[in-house]
Amino acid sequence: HRHRHQRLIFRIPMAKPIIDTEYLKEIEKARRELRAFISNKNCAPIMLRLAWHDAGTYDVNTKTGGPNGSIRNEEEYTHGANSGLKIALDFCEQVKSKCPKITYADLYQLAGVVAVEVTGGPTINFVPGRKDSNASPKEGRLPDAKKGAPHLREVFYRMGLSDKDIVALSGGHTLGRAHPERSGFDGPWTKEPLKFDNSYFVELLKGESEGLLKLPTDTALLEDPEFRRYVELYAKDEDAFFKDYAESHKKLSELGFTPH
Ligand code: HEM
Repeated sequence: HRHRHQRLIFRIPMAKPIIDTEYLKEIEKARRELRAFISNKNCAPIMLRLAWHDAGTYDVNTKTGGPNGSIRNEEEYTHGANSGLKIALDFCEQVKSKCPKITYADLYQLAGVVAVEVTGGPTINFVPGRKDSNASPKEGRLPDAKKGAPHLREVFYRMGLSDKDIVALSGGHTLGRAHPERSGFDGPWTKEPLKFDNSYFVELLKGESEGLLKLPTDTALLEDPEFRRYVELYAKDEDAFFKDYAESHKKLSELGFTPH
């Protein structure tokens, strides 16, 4: 037995692993820095949107895009869908200067996970080890808020995600708001946009409400029967939402990434 063990450790040539004790320590430091930063700046919503937009370009067939840090390239953050996200990139740069060993890809996904956590949402399992890429996908992979259910399916199926993932992840709109100068839309989805809860689904089922926003892609979740059954479940059962959200968010954060 000792022999076999030795062969494994000493005889098989291997590249230096990205994940060593030092890197794991850096991740924990970045997690603490992000917790403090996001709480102080109340910037959980835009940090979650950054994580989602870095990951949401994934194409399961060509294995391109995904949570690889490429959104930091000017070519990509200037895409129309990413309007405003330079603010979040600059916030992350402040954390990166304190934790220089962490990859951008890990940093953005960790920021998304911490954003959900510090606003009262579920704990999302975070596995580090993403590599950075300089290759940005062509514009047009993120969803268009003016479209309906078929478009949502087209975009999320391209990522390799499911109907349940579409509805659960849309619950991310429990945080934050739209800004006219960024997207042309205006207002928050819920009355407490800095609290992660199931109120996005409660408000969606209530219908029009003074001062609250519903994108066409949000109301599409009511009109499609397969989507609607999850909306109804999540509106009445916050635990079910938190459980599914945590699973779907983890999937999103690991598209094209095989931890080792
Ligand atoms: C904001 C569209 C899915 C998280 C926005 C905005 C739009 C949008 C138009 C407003 C941007 C602005 O004006 O500042 C969409 C569409 C989706 C989608 C069409 C398709 C389903 C998601 C997902 C998440 C997410 C999956 C995360 C899990 C957010 C957050 C904000 C936001 C947190 C608020 C940002 C802030 O307050 O600055 N989204 N989104 N969205 N989105 Fe989405």
